[in-house]
Amino acid sequence: AKKIIITIDGWSSCGKSTLAKQLAKKLGYVYVDSGAMYRAITLYFLRNHIDWTDTKQVEDALKEIHLDFHFNEKAQSSEMFLNDENVEYVIRDLVVAEKVSDVAAIREVRTFAVAQQQKMGRKKGIVMDGRDIGTVVFPKAELKIFMTADNAVRVERRFKELYEKNPNITIEEVKSNLEMRDYIDSHREVSPLRQAEDALILDNTNITQEQQLHKAMGWVEERL
Ligand code: C5P
Repeated sequence: AKKIIITIDGWSSCGKSTLAKQLAKKLGYVYVDSGAMYRAITLYFLRNHIDWTDTKQVEDALKEIHLDFHFNEKAQSSEMFLNDENVEYVIRDLVVAEKVSDVAAIREVRTFAVAQQQKMGRKKGIVMDGRDIGTVVFPKAELKIFMTADNAVRVERRFKELYEKNPNITIEEVKSNLEMRDYIDSHREVSPLRQAEDALILDNTNITQEQQLHKAMGWVEERL
């Protein structure tokens, strides 16, 4: 059977990873969460007190970073490993989320991450979500989806997710973090968040996960 590349880009907390995971499962494709890579790099920088405004420090630090994904059979999802440590849980923390957009704006960091992402897509049969996947990582992807949802809905969803882990978190904190990341991600010089010209828009404010999957599967089938 023909295998394609599916890219899913969009604003923070639009449900990109939920859709990407569902599509990958249904199609038997590999799912790659590119944001997890930027989060893991940020975690490394924070732990090792890297001054990321200093290019030399960034370059040296990147040489020490090894990223890979391992599929967790029990959880039926792939998890991010940083230098052989499972960081899937800790990279979701707000401490990382507060810095990740600054780190992801650094040219050297993006070159490092994008090279690995492109390698993962060489055999196709992949669904990758992020901010620049349809524009920069896989500009020739067969199917590009750009996701949006109302702000309030996005804040609510992310708040619920984070609150389960940390009941001290406030809705204001979550809201300001989403707004800040979307601003930095769409205004940075290197690979800003943009809708690719040939991307199909999926607004999931008022549709269920099942309806969303159905719609996306329709687009996939047209391309197989
Ligand atoms: O997808 P997620 O919200 O986990 O991504 C975290 C951050 O990583 C984003 O806010 C963005 O700054 C960065 N990112 C990026 N390019 C990607 C994926 C994520 O710059 N392809």
